[in-house]
Amino acid sequence: MSASQAEGEALKDGKGLVMDDVVANANHERYQATADIDIALRKTYDYYPSHRAIDFYNRYPEDIKRFADLGAKALRTSINWARIFPNGTEEEPNEAGLAFYDRVFDECLKYGIEPVITLNHFNTPFEFYYSGGWKNRELIGHFARYAETVFKRYKNKVKYWMTINEINMILSLPLVGGLINPTKEENIIQAKYQGAHYQLVASALAVKIGKEINPDFQIGCMMGAGMTYPYSCNPEDVWEAYQENEKEYALIDVQVKGVYPYSLTNKLKREGIELDITDEDLTILKENTVDFVGLSYYSSRLTAADKASLQRAGANLNSTLKNPYLKSNDFGWQSDPLGFRITLNELYSRYQLPLFVVENGYSALEKMEDNNPIEDDYRIDYIRDHLKELKNAMDDGVEIIGYTPWSGIDIISASSGMIEKRYGLIYVDLDDEGNGSLDRTPKKSYHWYQKVISSNGADL
Ligand code: BG6
Repeated sequence: MSASQAEGEALKDGKGLVMDDVVANANHERYQATADIDIALRKTYDYYPSHRAIDFYNRYPEDIKRFADLGAKALRTSINWARIFPNGTEEEPNEAGLAFYDRVFDECLKYGIEPVITLNHFNTPFEFYYSGGWKNRELIGHFARYAETVFKRYKNKVKYWMTINEINMILSLPLVGGLINPTKEENIIQAKYQGAHYQLVASALAVKIGKEINPDFQIGCMMGAGMTYPYSCNPEDVWEAYQENEKEYALIDVQVKGVYPYSLTNKLKREGIELDITDEDLTILKENTVDFVGLSYYSSRLTAADKASLQRAGANLNSTLKNPYLKSNDFGWQSDPLGFRITLNELYSRYQLPLFVVENGYSALEKMEDNNPIEDDYRIDYIRDHLKELKNAMDDGVEIIGYTPWSGIDIISASSGMIEKRYGLIYVDLDDEGNGSLDRTPKKSYHWYQKVISSNGADL
């Protein structure tokens, strides 16, 4: 899960706003606002999903107890930057925000659950939007101060950290990934890559600071992963897919290898784009690479040289071409378990670092009727098929630190803002207008996954 998709209490205890807090759901212009946030800023909506979310802020003891009963050994979530530094620029942190995460981590540790924490899961304080978002170099220092604060505070409670969720998101959705409004940019490619560069430097600085505070910290990057296949064996399609993959890997290349890949440097040069990159930045990148590669995987992607006449499908980060060999879920996202094995092998071969799968799961339209728990065999099938391929990848020699399904409990969808796009092993009684008791009920998949954990994957 992530902070603003689960916590709620978006305006409580001194918290500042993040982008999620100013947009409604897909029934009320969310997709339009994600492309131009000013659309949402001009309006007041009746219901903002993140303001209440699933109320994890108040219900975390019962939720963590359910995760413990499930047998979970790790909880992957994030700290909301704006709970700690409401506007992002304050010198002193907000104690109430810090105290909340103390309570959450203590509760996890009570049950032997290891918190796996992302510093920025689409939660840059919204106030920064007005000064250009991540296009503004000053964010590096503000992020470093935030990272130092939480690293010091939780140095004995959290060992596994990731700096920026799906850092490649800034390239496809610059507002979500970097608070950069594409409609306001003369040269959006320039703006996106400048923002990405500052994020990379901020992430590397966080690695440096974290290691000084606790050398045992394991600090990773996080990629929205999923190989892009060529539509056919036509070399034109293969070249298109090759370039697409290079584009998605480029920022992770910097975080793992400490230098920009030639393909990106050259692409920017060819397009006449000059970025503000100092020698000091390059040293910081070089000297502070990550310990592991965190990733989300929902499906592979598909591209072709000539896409115009081809059908499209939904996908994480970006829509993709429809692959005729794959099945789709209620939201048009396709399932490709073998693509998971391919992606894991590709990442490991490229980076030679342990991989941590922190997101993989299946969304569906589900409605609990007459107190009957949801029978989500499709989700069981999806997770089972992916776990089999995870095991195959491990047999191939890929080093895997962990796997956390997305997600333990229904949460607000990041792209659509809809709770009714459900991913959880536990059902939450809430609809897209904000009605519902918020009661939790384990689904069939919860009980199945309990067996998976207790048998350490032998009983799938
Ligand atoms: C990833 C995000 O992009 O995909 C998650 O890290 C998100 O926050 C997940 O929830 C699934 O996407 P969505 O839009 O269906 O919630």
